Amino acid sequence: MSKKKKVDFKEIGLDIGIILARQFYKTEYLHYGYWIDGLEVDSSNVHEAQENYAQLILSHIPEGVKTILDVGCGSGKFAQKMLDKGYQVDCVSPSPNLTKHVRRLVGDRSEIFECGYEDIYTEKKYDLILFSESFQYIPYRISMPLSIKLLNKKGSILVCDFFRKKVEGTSPIGGGHDLEEYYEYASKLPLNNIVDLDITKETAPSIDIVDDFLTNTMVPIYNLIFYVLDNNYPKFAKFLRWKFKKKLKKIDYKYLQRKTNAESFSRFKSYHLLVYEKT
Ligand SMILES: C[S@@+](CC[C@H](N)C(=O)[O-])C[C@H]1O[C@@H](n2cnc3c(N)ncnc32)[C@H](O)[C@@H]1O
Repeated sequence: MSKKKKVDFKEIGLDIGIILARQFYKTEYLHYGYWIDGLEVDSSNVHEAQENYAQLILSHIPEGVKTILDVGCGSGKFAQKMLDKGYQVDCVSPSPNLTKHVRRLVGDRSEIFECGYEDIYTEKKYDLILFSESFQYIPYRISMPLSIKLLNKKGSILVCDFFRKKVEGTSPIGGGHDLEEYYEYASKLPLNNIVDLDITKETAPSIDIVDDFLTNTMVPIYNLIFYVLDNNYPKFAKFLRWKFKKKLKKIDYKYLQRKTNAESFSRFKSYHLLVYEKT
């Protein structure tokens, strides 16, 4: 009998993210917010900050683009927006749970490739390949050559995502390709880098929103669960602490010590909007 495929923790994290985002912030985007000067960093403004982010990307879609491949389209919310603007958009969505949302939002207006980008198979070519906060999930040594192959003659690639900086210490926030190494690699590709916008300052406040949510919602729930377990099921609680020692230590470092915030994000990460033209 074939072994059942294990569920990917990162993907489940995104699936949970969309449930929480819809419930608490009335949004279906899975990307950071773009916090312009004057916009108070408050959960009531998450929606507006995420709309700003969407507008920022829209404003950097090169002129003449008609067809777009939205790689890692999340809930499909941004794909829906681009469709409404008149672009033809196809989506790549490896998560079956997220794909349900994508289908609901884009209907039959898009082809949805239900696989990792690495495994896409299509004869189609696109004017733009878009990675809106999905770039970090895919090795760029695969995603960039593949994108060049899937582009029309005068096509472009737009990446909006955060990268890792080479600094001392351990980042409480995971994810992101090494920026220097990526630049070095990308400089050798048959592409012209026409835009490189550092938007770390404008995106970092999103992490303070996450910190606020964790501190005021998830941490008290987590503590209450262990309070009940320690008192009512001490042996089970002891077993859990032993079995998940490493995971609980990570949770403690990342969330309970409140190290996940805008300041640590800006120290360890660098968020960029990059646009490339095929040469
Ligand atoms: C943070 S969400 C961003 C969603 C959306 N682009 C947005 O801006 O709201 C990351 C997305 O990357 C997708 N993803 C993860 N690994 C992927 C892979 N190997 N290939 C394609 N997409 C991937 C996830 O399923 C998810 O849709």
